[in-house]
Amino acid sequence: MIDPWLEALDQANHHLHQQGLIRQLKLRSSPNGPFVDINGSQLLSFSSNDYLGLSNHPLLKKAMAEGADIYGTGSGASALISGHSTAHHLLENRLAQTQSLHIPNVATCFINTGFMANMAMITALASLGNISIYSDTLNHASIIDGIRMAKVQSQAQVFVYPHNDVETLQALLTQDPCPHKLIVTDSVFSMDGDFAPIQQLVKIAEQHQALLFLDDAHGFGIFGKNGHGCLEHFDICSPNIIYMGTLGKAVGVSGAFIAAQKFWIEWLIQKSRPIIYSTSPSPAIAHTALKSIELIKSEEGLNKRMHLFNLISYWNQRSNFTPWHVLPSSSAIQALIIGTNNKVMEVSKSLHHSGIWVPAIRPPTVPEHTARLRITLNADHSFAHIDLLVDALSKIESNLG
Ligand SMILES: Cc1ncc(COP(=O)(O)O)c(C=O)c1O
Repeated sequence: MIDPWLEALDQANHHLHQQGLIRQLKLRSSPNGPFVDINGSQLLSFSSNDYLGLSNHPLLKKAMAEGADIYGTGSGASALISGHSTAHHLLENRLAQTQSLHIPNVATCFINTGFMANMAMITALASLGNISIYSDTLNHASIIDGIRMAKVQSQAQVFVYPHNDVETLQALLTQDPCPHKLIVTDSVFSMDGDFAPIQQLVKIAEQHQALLFLDDAHGFGIFGKNGHGCLEHFDICSPNIIYMGTLGKAVGVSGAFIAAQKFWIEWLIQKSRPIIYSTSPSPAIAHTALKSIELIKSEEGLNKRMHLFNLISYWNQRSNFTPWHVLPSSSAIQALIIGTNNKVMEVSKSLHHSGIWVPAIRPPTVPEHTARLRITLNADHSFAHIDLLVDALSKIESNLG
């Protein structure tokens, strides 16, 4: 009998229901694309982070089969045991090239997911002790959890600064005698779509001999002349930067990497539990990600990125249709603040009835009272798709009064 457990579970679920916070999986039975089959209906989708529409690209599907053919499907062990294959090595070299103009003496480490990469790097740095971590209040959950773990394992001091508030950050750093200071931020915020003030943060980090950890999950593959991410976009080079890029979003595959000066990557391999104690990513995935990075840099990739930027501008022009607050964003992530949990669910459901799929994002993913639609644009969309979304939202908004 497990009655005490079931009682607690009932109570917890009841609480979630009352707050409008029950989450449900939706079954997608088609690949990603502008239209997807969700729970049996075909819907126009503004919901995936597959920003360039590469996850169903014929060249990458071929690369996945080729990678499995050459290296096998699984890596068989963690990287330090026997899971580090030529596919991983080639990918890491190529990833290092993508950041070589931005981080001196750069090396990279390929990791299963961005979530793990953030936990891995933050805890490895914290293990050096005497650390203060400065974290933007809107940072991603994986950064928050990495910091929580650093606090428990290494007694890190933690300062959460208001969103993008460099003055407060500067003031906090100035008063801090701690020798090891680490500033951590999303480069493009995952639920708001805005940029961190990266150039200012680099200057502040250099001034305080701090490290700056940049999570470019939503920038790598999109920004910069070759799609190499936010450091290329802003033409930044600094030895103080530790960079995280993901391969499951614009790159269309899965996994992530840390890029930093070589000695940091060596330290990561010594200390990071998510790397040491986890089977390394599939070599077929490494092989596919390598091909995807080439594709992103090619003329085809450039055209896709340009089209995405045109779509973003078009949405920005059209999004003044509504009294709902549209957060200013020049990235593929466009947030429409609806307010309450129940209302955002109602709007998302009404869109669903109109044949459009936009996920509703509620607390704790976003701050209380800022439940929102998270609209993600991708290079497979057309301008007409955006018109359909705007028309549907306008109707819903006027019906709700
Ligand atoms: C800012 C940010 N960092 C990290 C991650 C985690 O990356 P992954 O999906 O590869 O685990 C995400 C995922 O959504 C993200 O938005």
